[in-house]
Formats: sequence, structure tokens, C-alpha cells
Amino acid sequence: MNNIKKSNILVCITGSIAAYKSVDLVRLFKKNGHEVQVVMTESAREFITPLTLQAISGHKVHQSLLDIDAELAMGHIELAKWADVIVIAPCSAETIARLSLGRANDLLGAIILASKAKKFIAPAMNTNMWSNPVTKKNIFYLSSNDMNLIGPAKGDQACGDVGYGRMSEPEEIYESVQVTLNQSLNGKKIIVTAGPTREQIDPVRFISNNSSGKMGFAMAEAAASSGAEVFLITGPVSLTCSDLIKRIDVKTANDMYEESLKLMHSADIFIGCAAVADFKSVEISHQKIKKSFENHFDIRLEKNIDIISSLAEQFPAKTFMGFCAETERVEEYAKEKLISKGLDLIVANDVSKSDIGFDSDFNEVNVYTKEEKKYFQKSTKSLLAIKLINLLGPDSQSIH
Ligand code: C5P
Repeated sequence: MNNIKKSNILVCITGSIAAYKSVDLVRLFKKNGHEVQVVMTESAREFITPLTLQAISGHKVHQSLLDIDAELAMGHIELAKWADVIVIAPCSAETIARLSLGRANDLLGAIILASKAKKFIAPAMNTNMWSNPVTKKNIFYLSSNDMNLIGPAKGDQACGDVGYGRMSEPEEIYESVQVTLNQSLNGKKIIVTAGPTREQIDPVRFISNNSSGKMGFAMAEAAASSGAEVFLITGPVSLTCSDLIKRIDVKTANDMYEESLKLMHSADIFIGCAAVADFKSVEISHQKIKKSFENHFDIRLEKNIDIISSLAEQFPAKTFMGFCAETERVEEYAKEKLISKGLDLIVANDVSKSDIGFDSDFNEVNVYTKEEKKYFQKSTKSLLAIKLINLLGPDSQSIH
């Protein structure tokens, strides 16, 4: 990340126990050369003092809409115009509800309405509050109206519950904002494959695998945030993606290949995240197969096309990033696949570890090129995706 564009960043803190993490967030922005000012709501000040944020940001904290002195120093409209980026972290359920109504009865609400800055929200709340349909509706409305959503993460909550609702860690918030500011893949067209494929045996049965599609969707989101035009070709998964992404739903490996091939001519980068079924049934029965046979029943399988290696062979000038999930000899197999599939990079993870991989929200990987190896410590798939996408930008000629 060499060419970081320096920006004016307004960090808005609302009432949540996660408010203490905003100190690290402000510190991260400052450390990377950004100018930071802070707005705190009344309830945020119950969790952390303005003095702390003043010391870290180097500016008086903005707290009130109707304070004459504050308005004389830098009024809410001036502050709204000053900001290139506004990050609300943590963003409480109450603030989400007020923002979705367009309320302007406090400093934060007024600034958000008045500002043309790029806006991010990092929600933090109890998991039941997060999954409540009213919150879901509000979040949907905000994220379809120029608010970039970061998180929330899943895990232990301060109240003792476990689930989605934890504020994303400051590093993830920082990286998500940074990748949007850098736009390092602007002008690039990227294809991402995700999820499993489904190979039908008869009208009701199929061969598939445990892939959740989470890593592929995270890669697609990170690529779109960094300015790329993203086509996400996905097998059957229960995930949604942002409007920035052009999504193509497929079932079989053949369909995934056909859709990829159509787009590949004009694409720059192919990211193969899909867990493509290695085999398909030679024959697909048109009727449901009956249990009338004896103890054994044979299905003849044939190999599916290897999508990524076939495309890498046909389009040698383009960049190919593959993924591999292994249960043993991870490095050896990864390096083998890097060469045999004609890839530029391969991201390898050890799925014998139960806390990472397939259905997990976390991953820990090594990335190999022909010359190098780089380790990425365990983190959420969305943070990891941002870091992997950064490897494809112009500032990353190498993976050092
Ligand atoms: O051989 P393996 O399945 O481990 O290789 C993984 C990589 O190859 C992934 O990038 C995956 O998306 C891609 N792949 C493919 N077509 C296949 C099998 C794997 O594109 N039939």
C-alpha cells in the first residue's frame, strides 16, 4: 500500500461498548497519514471520554449540534463539507434506525444528511437486535443508499450472547475504508467463481460439497470495493452480494465454465474460489431413480473440466489466482497445483483445522507464487479478502 491517498476522515462514535475500539481506529487512520476529526453522540460519551479521543485525534471532539461555541469553531455544515470520508464506528441499532429515517436532530444525523463524503457504517449491537427484521430493513435501506457496510462480525458478545453483532475489528474497518480510497483495481474486469457446483444424478439428487461460498463472495466484495468491475459466477449458496457486483448463478461445473469463458475475453483477472465438483454423473436420469435395486447401486462418474486450468491455458496473458483446500502436505500440493494449473498465485489453506475453511467466517492461508510464499494470519474472510485483493493491485508487483 504505497500510494495511500491522504484524506479527511470523520470518525463518528455512537453508544456501544465497542466504542473503546474506536481509539485504535482513529490511531490507525492517523498513523497512515490521514487527518482525523471525531464526533461523539451523547450515549457514546457514557462509554468513553471525549478527552481520550481528543488526545488521539489531535482535535477537539465535536459533540453538539446546538452549541454556539462549537458552531463558531467548525459548524456542522462545515464539518460535513470537510470530510472526504465518514466512518460511523460503532454504529448502534438506534443510530441505524435514525439514519434510515433521515433524522437531523443531533450533530451526527445533521452531518450525515448534509455530507457528500463516502460513508461507512460498522454496526455493533446484540445479535438479536442485529437479526431483528426492523434492523435488517434499515440496514438494507442504508446500504442501498450509499452507506458502505463493514461487518458486523460473529463471535462472543459483551452481553454473553454469541452471534453476529460484534463490531468488526479496527484493522478490518481501516482496511475496508483504505481499499475503497485506493481504488487500486480501477478499470480492471475481474471474474470470481464461488461456492460449490451441483452435479445432478436424477431430478432430486446431486453430487456437491460443503463450500459455503463465503470466501468467494468476500473476494468479490473486496475486488468491487477496490474499483474493479466484478462478475461473480456462483454455484448454489445462501449468500447475498452488494449491488456493485454482477452476479451469475449457475449449478454445474460446465455452466460455470461456459459463463466464465464468455466473460474471459474481456477480463483481466480470474479468481477461482469455487469448490468445483471433480466428477459428474455420466448419465442423468430423467426420472427419480427407484429403490428397487438390491444392496448396491453403481453411479458411473466422469471427470469435470478443470475450469481454471483450461482458462489459464487459453488466456496465458491474463492473471489467474486459484485457491486450494488441503488436509495434508498443504505446501507441496499447493505448489504442484500452481504449476500444473498454470496459475500466477495460489491461496492455500489447511481444512483439517476446524476453526477455519469451509463454513467458517475465518481463514488462515499461505499464498504461493513461483518465487515467493507469504503467510496471512487467521482473520475474518472479509479482511483476508481485502489483503489478497491488494496483492493484485499495481503496488504489489511481488507478495513481499
Ligand atoms: O484441484 P483443486 O480442486 O484443489 O483446485 C482448486 C482450484 O482449482 C480452485 O481455484 C478451483 O476453483 C479450481 N478448480 C476449477 N475447476 C475444477 C476444479 C478446481 O476451476 N474442476
